[in-house]
Amino acid sequence: MENTTALITGASGGLGLEFAHLCAQDGYDLVLAARNENKLNQIKKELEEKYHISVSVFAVDLSKKDSALDLYRFTKEHDLSIEILINNAGFGLAQCQ
Ligand SMILES: NC(=O)c1ccc[n+]([C@@H]2O[C@H](COP(=O)([O-])OP(=O)(O)OC[C@H]3O[C@@H](n4cnc5c(N)ncnc54)[C@H](OP(=O)(O)O)[C@@H]3O)[C@@H](O)[C@H]2O)c1
Repeated sequence: MENTTALITGASGGLGLEFAHLCAQDGYDLVLAARNENKLNQIKKELEEKYHISVSVFAVDLSKKDSALDLYRFTKEHDLSIEILINNAGFGLAQCQ
């Protein structure tokens, strides 16, 4: 049986990366989105090796117009069926001060 898939935005660091580890630990395949493609690819490699799940990454600036639609299209083009959304992208408190 195929794993179920969780989509996590803001997954290149902070809370989003922690959520990615927790979902991977529970056996979910993942779609990870954030701006930093290099970090996302490093995380993909690490999580796939550690948890034996499948990780797709999509580098995107979600503050840009139509970016959410681009992400949606990415999931459709790759036949990824999303069961869980963790819509976490944003900035931490330190950057607000
Ligand atoms: N930490 C807290 O105490 C706290 C409290 C209340 C709410 N929150 C909220 O929880 C979320 C995560 O917080 P955090 O502390 O983990 O923040 P963080 O460490 O700054 O991480 C933010 C994540 O979001 C991504 N991101 C930021 N802007 C983005 C954009 N325009 N498009 C796509 N991805 C973007 C970042 O990756 P890239 O730089 O690679 O894009 C990173 O992966 C935020 O939405 C924050 O507002 C946090």
